[in-house]
Amino acid sequence: MSNIYLPTEANLNLAAQNIRQGQLVAFPTETVYGLGANVYNAQAVASIFEVKGRPRFDPLISHIAEVDFLKEYATTDERVLALAKHFCPGPLTFILRRIDNNSSIDLACSGLSKIAVRMPNNPIALDLIRKSGVPIVAPSANKFKAVSPTTAQHVQESLGDKVPMILDGGACKVGVESTIIDVTDKQIVLLRAGGTAIEDIESFLGEKILISDGDPNKPSAPGQLLKHYAPKNSLRINAESKQDNEFLIGFGNVAEADINLSPTGDLKEAAANLFAYMRLADEQCGSKTLAMSPIPTTGLGLAINDRIKRASYK
Ligand code: TXA
Ligand code: MG
Repeated sequence: MSNIYLPTEANLNLAAQNIRQGQLVAFPTETVYGLGANVYNAQAVASIFEVKGRPRFDPLISHIAEVDFLKEYATTDERVLALAKHFCPGPLTFILRRIDNNSSIDLACSGLSKIAVRMPNNPIALDLIRKSGVPIVAPSANKFKAVSPTTAQHVQESLGDKVPMILDGGACKVGVESTIIDVTDKQIVLLRAGGTAIEDIESFLGEKILISDGDPNKPSAPGQLLKHYAPKNSLRINAESKQDNEFLIGFGNVAEADINLSPTGDLKEAAANLFAYMRLADEQCGSKTLAMSPIPTTGLGLAINDRIKRASYK
């Protein structure tokens, strides 16, 4: 029997019950599919690391369904609340200072004094969180370091029957993970480029965001690891043209592309297709290696370039 479930009312209730009881549920968000657990159930949280093969020290993002919940968890201020009001629900994760003394969320936070929180812009995710009655921690629902999943089938391919339940919400609209900003200090720091363009945050706030340039081998956000999101075959990026024995993932008007992230050069479309097309390229390239056309670094292009740089790291 398949572990993929349609998001019917009955299945959502079942999924919420599973979450409350400490089981894992994979669910769609607007960015990528998440592998969810009850934040307060350390055993369930631990099983996320086990299923993903992820090192223990990686902290997880808590997903909430109401902005108000931020205050239960963490120190907020006017700037955080204004940002949340404007950008939530959406692909933006806040790193905040924890205020609770609830040690049951220590594992989710890897024992750090800061917590990552976001409100996903997907009705199935929001419904699941509300029905569960607890925040849901969820990393992307794939094996550690592999390409992130943007469909329920990707989750099944990567994690198989290790997840009892995968809610099927179709393809993710945004397609790259959330932007992560640390807002615990006066100077906001970008820890991971993602589905919210930093230009949008900067123009909303009227202040500059510092781009984290910490030592990539000691990442402050493990999405910063040099090799991450990797396809199985080697990938050459910024390929102006296709070389012999290459399978080219195009962007824009590229006649020789074998597949194309967005023939019209639309960065949103390209982000939504990115991970699915890296998988497709792996499947279709035969004995060839992979190459990808240059992608502009504006707007969502920053997140795309971040992912493909890590995916191409040797
Ligand atoms: O779009 C997303 O954010 C997806 C969907 C499922 O919501 N989730 C996701 O989770 O990408 P994950 O676990 O693959 O990436 C979470 C990132 C990691 O790089 C982690 O280190 C960072 O968030 N993070 C979590 N808590 C943190 C903290 N307290 N301080 C710094 N970084 C933190
Ligand atoms: Mg991930």
